[in-house]
Amino acid sequence: MTNEELIAIAKKAMENSYAPYSNFNVGAAICLSDGSVYTGCNIENSSYPVTICAERTALFKAVSEGRRDFEKIAIVSSSGEATYPCGMCRQALFEFMADKKVVLEDDNGKIFEVDIKDLIPHGFKL
Ligand code: THU
Repeated sequence: MTNEELIAIAKKAMENSYAPYSNFNVGAAICLSDGSVYTGCNIENSSYPVTICAERTALFKAVSEGRRDFEKIAIVSSSGEATYPCGMCRQALFEFMADKKVVLEDDNGKIFEVDIKDLIPHGFKL
């Protein structure tokens, strides 16, 4: 799976974003070793902290189906700029794919990768 393909799938997943409070739509697509992909979007709630981010939706969908062999995760948003994962999502990604990469797209349409380890140095581990 190319980064371009994964970004395109994340953009499709963003169409299901439910974000009436922030109007900030996010989509994510996580690729596994056999080429399968799980997608996610942000889902907000009138009780704001109930909201879940797109990355954790995708990650938890996959984990809940017994998948852990992650290769990379693409994240896109309606901002038109590269959207880096929030702190909570960085910790969630660190748990399952600390040595893998996040795929992002900048405001010029350039697709690039970031190491999850660089996003959350000294991530928490039990
Ligand atoms: N959001 C994500 O989906 N992922 C992030 O990493 C950053 C924030 C969502 C949560 C909320 O629905 C909206 O963006 C604004 O914070």
